[in-house]
Amino acid sequence: MRLLLPLLFCVGAFCLDNGLGRTPPMGWMSWTAFYCEIDCVKHPTGCINEQLYKDMADQLVSGGYDKVGYKSVHIDDCWSEMERDSHGILVANKTRFPSGMKALAKYMHDRGLKFGIYEDYGTKTCGGYPGSYKHEKVDAQTFAAWDVDYLKLDGCNIDQAMMPIGYPLFEKELNETGRPIMYSCSWPAYLIDHPELVNYNLIGKYCNTWRNFDDINSSWKSIISIISYYDKMQDKHIPTHGPGKWHDPDMLVIGNKGITLDMSISQFTVWCIWSAPLIMSNDLRIIGDSFKDVLKNKEAIKINQDPLGIMGRLIKNSTDIGVYVKQITPSKGDKKSFAFAYLNRNEKEGYKRIEIQLASIGLTDPAGYYVHDIWSHVDLGLLRSGDSIVVSIAPAGSVFFRADLASLHQPKGKRRYKFDNSNVVYEFEREQSQLGRFDFGDYLRTNRVQF
Ligand code: GLA
Repeated sequence: MRLLLPLLFCVGAFCLDNGLGRTPPMGWMSWTAFYCEIDCVKHPTGCINEQLYKDMADQLVSGGYDKVGYKSVHIDDCWSEMERDSHGILVANKTRFPSGMKALAKYMHDRGLKFGIYEDYGTKTCGGYPGSYKHEKVDAQTFAAWDVDYLKLDGCNIDQAMMPIGYPLFEKELNETGRPIMYSCSWPAYLIDHPELVNYNLIGKYCNTWRNFDDINSSWKSIISIISYYDKMQDKHIPTHGPGKWHDPDMLVIGNKGITLDMSISQFTVWCIWSAPLIMSNDLRIIGDSFKDVLKNKEAIKINQDPLGIMGRLIKNSTDIGVYVKQITPSKGDKKSFAFAYLNRNEKEGYKRIEIQLASIGLTDPAGYYVHDIWSHVDLGLLRSGDSIVVSIAPAGSVFFRADLASLHQPKGKRRYKFDNSNVVYEFEREQSQLGRFDFGDYLRTNRVQF
């Protein structure tokens, strides 16, 4: 890790690896839920002020989100005064952040959380607040002095041609502060119309994560537009994605008005299949329990945080259904385990009934796979390549499974099994070590199981 070394001693790719973000970042960010609401008289609990971020930090802890991995609170735009001070230093808005940013960082750190801030490389932020252009060094030093752990550097109000200069410059300035600060760049998001100018290998040398498409909002249309863009770009995205360098499809809008439970399950499924950053933007003070359960699904998060950090691929597509497969651990050479998901993009028509034969999605190992349903938390037992699972997918819904390669994975302990036989649902628990004597796959083969 080169973090504390002067730039002079850095060579090649090592120079740009700050050792951060080995798994996709997880946290909470204000933008999509609270935008640039600065009227704290009219909106006392929904405006950009220090209390909002303290409330969300408290929620992360009391709601147990931190325990499953959500470890950071991120300020977005509209936090500063409209002018720098007489030394050219950024100042937090004195009315809305009376204790200042260092105190807010401490509030997070005292609770075991990280603290993220927002700036913009241009002359102004997208919301019109002072930008960092020509203040890169002092701003990096200010953020380090405030004990900031993560910087989202936006790209409004600057010539696109400056981006390959400014983003690496800011990375150098952050590095020279000696404080480990995760670096999120919006650089490619400003080049959507110029894909020929986007070199993710280069961007990945400077940035830990980056936005590359339009802002999300709390609608299915927006979620689907991001998924469609990522589907289209996957051959460029997949090879440039991994530990320390993550494509960021933008925030999770789960728990917001306009997003149903099925839509929530779908956004979470696809973001996990991609190993994308899981940064929520919602009001954790009022979120419903079922949405909380989606956000805290440990089995889905485990796939998102898989140490291989591989972005899953769309392997089949039809008008409504997208099929995604992602390699996960345990894997060894050609022996691979997988997560797979079927997404129903159609939010209007009824349920889609689909038969998934493992071989048809590339799961062909002769020893078979232990298959587990991520959303119903049910083990399907050992399935072989010729076996099928029949699923019904809700409008705007998804199904999501992991398939652990049997030759690399010996399940231990008691697991819950469930099967449906002529409309009778059977559920039972048994030691997984007994599986050798009870081939659940054989059972499924003769009794098609539907959940
Ligand atoms: C841009 C970014 C958003 C948000 C706003 C703030 O639009 O993409 O995520 O940070 O700026 O103004």
